[in-house]
Amino acid sequence: MSESISITDNRTGQTVEIPIDNGGIDAKAWGSLLPGIWFTDPSFGATAGAVSSITDLDGGAGILRYRGYPIEQVAPSLSFLQVCYLLISGEIPTDQELAAFKAEISAEAPIHENFHKRILEGFRDDAHAMGVLISAIAALSTFFPEGKNIDDPEVRRTQMLRLIAKMPTLAASAYRKSIGAPYVQPDPELDYTSNFLTMMFCNPDGSYDVDPVLRDAMDLLFVLHADHEQNCSTTAARVVGSSHADPYVTVASAASALYGPRHGGANEAVLRMLEDIGSFDQVDDFIKSVKAGEGRLMGFGHRVYKNFDPRAVIVKETAHQVFEVTGKNPLLDIALKLEEVALADDYFVSRSLYPNVDFYSGLIYQSMGFPVEMFTVLFAIGRTPGWLTHWDEMLQQESRIARPRQIYTGPAARDVPGFTAG
Ligand code: CMC
Repeated sequence: MSESISITDNRTGQTVEIPIDNGGIDAKAWGSLLPGIWFTDPSFGATAGAVSSITDLDGGAGILRYRGYPIEQVAPSLSFLQVCYLLISGEIPTDQELAAFKAEISAEAPIHENFHKRILEGFRDDAHAMGVLISAIAALSTFFPEGKNIDDPEVRRTQMLRLIAKMPTLAASAYRKSIGAPYVQPDPELDYTSNFLTMMFCNPDGSYDVDPVLRDAMDLLFVLHADHEQNCSTTAARVVGSSHADPYVTVASAASALYGPRHGGANEAVLRMLEDIGSFDQVDDFIKSVKAGEGRLMGFGHRVYKNFDPRAVIVKETAHQVFEVTGKNPLLDIALKLEEVALADDYFVSRSLYPNVDFYSGLIYQSMGFPVEMFTVLFAIGRTPGWLTHWDEMLQQESRIARPRQIYTGPAARDVPGFTAG
């Protein structure tokens, strides 16, 4: 049997046979048969927007692999920086490569004092940390104009490392601004995640004891968020990057897409939902209201995973390790009961709605001392290598500017009242 699909235009009887290549068919072949007829797929549910060799995801089987390595092996074995290296270069670094990579990241981590004074100081104290982060990432474009030279692989690599390095510094600065605490620059002696926790939570004299369990949990959460193939924010990065915009504004647009509650903003929305539910006894009524269409069960459901989200399984285990140190998050019981009720309810089962990565991550973040406004910022730090690797991959391929078509349903041509030609 030939590995192809045939499409027939029943108006003319003309047929085109399109080979199936790696599970996809080339839409250009369809277009040559039917010029002016477009696929309608506004949410890209049936469209492969990229040919990519970074992350392999099989939603039906609950499979997630970075460069071929299963997430269940990556999560307990590799640090976030090892995963960054793996995503960018395609291979796990040797000890020597990792040491050099760490040194490059450390060197790029500080942010210019002017950035604090002129950019961050411009925000209100109650500004949402994601709004601050998105603006700050975009502002980096004006500090590093050489990033516009996107055709040079070395320049691209430098900006990628720079962004991965500066994200924790920007994130911690956004937080410290919101609480009126002095800004802290990174300490080159510390590892990536200890550095971030220290910049976030250190005392005015810079002292802070990093708890190894909490640091490892934070690092693991960064690893779990590092890439997820063509999700909404990565697609935003690819679309914006296809215009040859610089990497800073490209990543700012990806972070903007992440901010929404259907995507990375869900971790904040879950926490607010658990707080609104308030007690164990209210869970049944809340589930009834979701089934009546009055709102969504945040942290549940996924466009691609239809049996389980492998990241959610690991996050749930991690939550218990964190609570051993911090004490149990009082909202945990509500979350566990919500999960139990939803997984036994036909509404959720028939729609294949399961806990996703955001269902338990917020409970961990809260127990570690992060305010809810920082939750999506944490997701953004983790996802930065994914956005950048996709951007870099796209630029290495023969890529045209993203420019979809539309099905026009507005008024037919008509004259402006009173208009006369000439
Ligand atoms: N609670 C209740 N009903 C839901 C939910 C939910 N969380 N998610 C989907 N549904 C229902 C939806 O109402 C629809 O029902 P019906 O067929 O009766 O109209 C059906 O399930 C299919 O929903 P959909 O909106 O077509 O699904 P989607 O694939 O377009 O959306 C989603 C995926 C993640 C946006 C959605 O499940 C959702 O809004 N979940 C809550 C937000 C959330 O947790 N997002 C984080 C996603 S994982 C982290 C990340 O990578 O971003």
